[in-house]
Amino acid sequence: MPKIKLAPSILSADFSKVNDEIKQVEKYSDLIHIDIMDGIFVPPTTVDSDFVKKIKTKVPLDVHLMVHEPSDSYLKGFIDAGASSITIHEEACKDPAKQLSFIKKNDIGASISIKPKTPLDKIRKYLDMVDMVLIMTVEPGWAGQKFIQSTMEKVRELRQLKPNLDIEVDGGINPYTVRTAYDEGANVFVAGNAIFGKKDRVAAIKEILGSLK
Ligand code: DX5
Ligand code: ZN
Repeated sequence: MPKIKLAPSILSADFSKVNDEIKQVEKYSDLIHIDIMDGIFVPPTTVDSDFVKKIKTKVPLDVHLMVHEPSDSYLKGFIDAGASSITIHEEACKDPAKQLSFIKKNDIGASISIKPKTPLDKIRKYLDMVDMVLIMTVEPGWAGQKFIQSTMEKVRELRQLKPNLDIEVDGGINPYTVRTAYDEGANVFVAGNAIFGKKDRVAAIKEILGSLK
């Protein structure tokens, strides 16, 4: 099983002082998760690559694109802004191999995500191209939703198929659900509300990591 990684999601942080917010969690973070929403693939819109460019941290930036058909130049914007990996959605792209190979060509991590109702079969053919798979554990679009237990079947099956792959879970991760996802085989944990929704972010992180001991 690959290394456990914690990825606080800044979606629940205060964007107007995002660098201060990140500073509070940096020491305990393996990745900073940044949600990009386009108002098409998901109803809300969030931030863009100019916002990502302004983030100052040594922690690698895990960019999650909830974006319809991202073009090469759109992807390049995030690569130039400092993304260490980019996740695209299978449901958002006609031929995800196109985006994945562009991301790989630019020497950063490539990852593909599926929504809770999308079967694992849809991404089997990309598994040898990616550094990570993101199994959404809520419907993409909003923070603070309830973890969908049935997504764990996909995590379990994927871990059996790929013992060394980074498997990320995103949505409704808290000190209880993190343990469930870990036991099924996930090793990269995104948490928004469970960290930035709390006043004491370090205590919140310690509680999450404590569940994995
Ligand atoms: C939802 C986003 C998540 C979100 C998770 O579409 O992809 O990254 O920040 O938020 P929580 O952890 O609050 O469910
Ligand atoms: Zn996300």
